[in-house]
Formats: sequence, structure tokens, C-alpha cells
Amino acid sequence: MKRIELKNLKYSYGKNQILKSINYQFYSGELIGILGANGCGKSTLLKIMMGFLKMEDGQIYLDEKKQEEFSILDFSKKVSFITQKSNQNINFNVLELLKLGRVPHIKNNFKGLDESDYKVVKEVIDELQLQSYLDREVTSLSGGEFQKILLGRAFIQKGEVIFLDEPTSALDMNHSLELLAILSKKIKEDKLIGVIVIHDINLASLFCDKILFIKDGIIKYSGSPEKVIKEDILKDVYGFDPKILETKDGIFVLPKKERL
Ligand SMILES: Nc1ncnc2c1ncn2[C@@H]1O[C@H](COP(=O)(O)OP(=O)(O)O)[C@@H](O)[C@H]1O
Ligand SMILES: [Mg+2]
Repeated sequence: MKRIELKNLKYSYGKNQILKSINYQFYSGELIGILGANGCGKSTLLKIMMGFLKMEDGQIYLDEKKQEEFSILDFSKKVSFITQKSNQNINFNVLELLKLGRVPHIKNNFKGLDESDYKVVKEVIDELQLQSYLDREVTSLSGGEFQKILLGRAFIQKGEVIFLDEPTSALDMNHSLELLAILSKKIKEDKLIGVIVIHDINLASLFCDKILFIKDGIIKYSGSPEKVIKEDILKDVYGFDPKILETKDGIFVLPKKERL
């Protein structure tokens, strides 16, 4: 898939219109960060793109085909996701969870996974170095390990699009960097489309090719981190006075102590 296009997408919870008119084109090979204040509609937008919520109006095109024209099976072959509330309380070991990534591809329901499926599972286990985790119960994993396994499952699914809702919010800096580095490398190498909701502006600046800021139900600002991580934009989006540091390693937002 080369492109996802959102056209005039709208969504309301009851009378409360959260998304007023969302327009954007996502291209393969890019990791796009969706940012904005709490409650601005980031997760809602992701849920619509993942097919969990039905938009009130508008269109989503995956290349030239409308999202609604995909069968559930075809859609689940194309799209994988790591959601905010992915449930770790499951009675599976890691290998079993990883194998679930192949479910949309099963050719013979009686036989289950075939040789080509196992080949994909093995490749990803090697790629992410998950060998030592395979027998572990999923409930016994740390938050960082669990997120990495979920990323592995998404890779095993071989979707062309990966959606992630705050995958790093419970991770320490080192685990966040590891997860985002693996993700962004994969997106570049396999020419996937990556869409990530992420709160940390500095991590977004380091790893995202483009950043979208949602405010008042629209994508109010979008562009490369250099273009949109600006004092006036952040002040408008979040309502605080940021201090911005531009370095050769990226653009960073510093907290100002006088706010405390
Ligand atoms: N099921 C729901 N029913 C009613 N309101 C909802 C529901 N889910 C989310 N909302 C509201 O919609 C707004 C956007 O939610 P969400 O997309 O989760 O925001 P974000 O992910 O940007 O923090 C919030 O004000 C939230 O309270
Ligand atoms: Mg959210």
C-alpha cells in the first residue's frame, strides 16, 4: 500500500463532535505521529482508521479503495495495531501470542499455521531477538517486554499499515527508544505506513517523519518536526509556554521551571 487518504472525516459521541473535518494523506515509508492535548480525539481517529469505530461522515481510502469496501479478513491482512489497552491478562505464552499474528493468513482452518507461516514467525523472533521469551507466560512480562512482543506480533502479521496508540507511555526512556528505533527501521525497510499516537514531543521529534497536531477537531498543524515543533504552535495546542532547543540531534522541548 502506498497511501492512506482521509477526506473530511467526522466523528461525534452523541452530540459532542470530536472530529470536525480531518483531512490527510499518509505515505508508505513514513512514521506519522499524532499529537495533541488529552481528549482532543487522537484515539478516536485511530479507532476509525483501524475500523473499530464507524465515521459519521467522510472517506478513508487505502490506495484507491475505500475502507468500507474491504472484507474484514482482507482488512486484517493489511492492518495491524497495538492499542492503548492491549490486554496483558491472557493465558498464553509468548510464542502462542506471536503465532496469533498469522491468523488472518491461515489458508486451511483445520490445519492451522503452515510452513510458510512458521517461517515468518521465526524470522521475526530472530529479528527482534525474542528467543529467550518464547516460553514465558504473557502475564509475567514487564510492560516493556510486553510492548516488544506486541510489536513482534504486528510484524508477524505482515500488515502494510501499523497503528500504535501510546505504546511507550508506560515505558522508561531506554525501552521507549528501543521500541521506536525498531519500529521506525521496519517502516523504512519494508515501506510500511506507521501511525502512532504519542505524547512525548521529544520522542516524536526524534522518530516521526511528520507530526500532526489535532486541535478543535481538525489537524491544525502538520509537517516535519522542524516545521511544527515551534513555540507558538505548542502554546496554541497545549496552552503552555515552551522553551525549545534546536540541536544537531533534533528539536527538544524543555519544561520551564517557573510553571511549577
Ligand atoms: N465512548 C465514548 N463516549 C463518549 N465520549 C467519549 C467516548 N470515548 C471518548 N470520548 C470523549 O471523546 C473525546 C476524545 O477522546 P479520545 O479520542 O480518547 O482522546 P485522546 O486520545 O486524544 O486523549 C474525549 O473528550 C473523551 O472523553
Ligand atoms: Mg487516547
